[in-house]
Amino acid sequence: MDEPRPTSNKSEDNDVHLHPSKGNTVKKKVILAVITAGALALTLGACSSTRTTTGSTSTSNKGALVGIAMPTQTSERWIKDGAAIKKDLEALGYKTDLEYANNDIPTQVQQIEAMITKKAKVLVIASIDGTALSSQLDEAAAAGIKVVAYDRLINGNKNVDYYTTFDNYKVGVQQATSLLTGLGILDASGAETGKKGPFNVELFAGSPDDNNATFFYNGAMDTLKKYLDNGTLVVKSGQTDFKTVATLRWDPATAQARMENLLAKSYSSGAKVQGVLSPYDGLSIGIISALTSAGYAKNALPIITGQDAEVGSVKSIIAGEQYSTVYKDTRKLGKEAVSIVDDLLNGKQPTVNDTKSYNNGKKIVPAFLLQSVVVTKDNYKQVLVDGGYYTEADLQ
Ligand code: GAL
Repeated sequence: MDEPRPTSNKSEDNDVHLHPSKGNTVKKKVILAVITAGALALTLGACSSTRTTTGSTSTSNKGALVGIAMPTQTSERWIKDGAAIKKDLEALGYKTDLEYANNDIPTQVQQIEAMITKKAKVLVIASIDGTALSSQLDEAAAAGIKVVAYDRLINGNKNVDYYTTFDNYKVGVQQATSLLTGLGILDASGAETGKKGPFNVELFAGSPDDNNATFFYNGAMDTLKKYLDNGTLVVKSGQTDFKTVATLRWDPATAQARMENLLAKSYSSGAKVQGVLSPYDGLSIGIISALTSAGYAKNALPIITGQDAEVGSVKSIIAGEQYSTVYKDTRKLGKEAVSIVDDLLNGKQPTVNDTKSYNNGKKIVPAFLLQSVVVTKDNYKQVLVDGGYYTEADLQ
């Protein structure tokens, strides 16, 4: 699909919620903070810098190679992300090496090694396992290559220069809030309706090696806690611990198998599941399969959440099966990554709007966070179609 590419309007995205590790929400109008620390002593390989007569710095990075390491093509979103970044970088005159790793860690490691060997000047990495790339990051730093973590933070290594993503804690809050709205516990304005249930819900989380999965789950659980504590929500399986509900590699089949298991163990007496917290559309598809195989009618499924606004799941929302998804505009994320790369290759300091939330164990990685939007049957047209992400025909 040929997507319209609106010029990025950063001011739209600057009203971010910062979430210090304890999970308390500090709403802050963030002024585009400029990272002063670690001044941008750009070595960038063998690149030479010269002062022009106007005093600006011109570099020899025109035509530089940028490595783009994406996790998998099994999810449509990464295909869109990779293609958008490649196209936009090439439009700026850079060469690109776009690789997908089939969700296989050794493949991604080897692809990044190859990018370093080919003398890429910047690596844009959406990691599979956020802790598995340390020696490649050390090699990159030694060669003067900059690293931009794309949507997923790379942990345990100081050589992550920048990070661009969405406000992941807030994504979790949005997922949980839409579960509560779908169940009728909250109304559309977010106010409590007084409905007390109890409602049977089951919880799913993403891949434990993906830093985002914990952010999503923490955001969701901080929102659901009150209703779990006061008995409005009941998790009949008793499974609420992140490790137990996590889904390795975000695999739909794993989620399907777990849902089948939950139905067999905790709902065989005839009780029904009324809500499922799902952090990603792919998992929601697996969860829906398990439910329909167990006899749930397609028009009487529980309230099921999601993320990524993947085309199949938006169709499912329109058909009244999945209840909601969290839409993250990958065009904007791609543009943000490209702008960071371009700044790095031009000796400029990239703009960030968060210098608190993303501690990777070795440093707080300066980040640019974008905002996500909850999409349901009620607003998909306005958000996704009018916003140019999909055409009506895509969703038929
Ligand atoms: C996460 C990402 C989500 C979803 C998931 C599965 O890292 O933030 O948007 O795409 O991976 O691919």
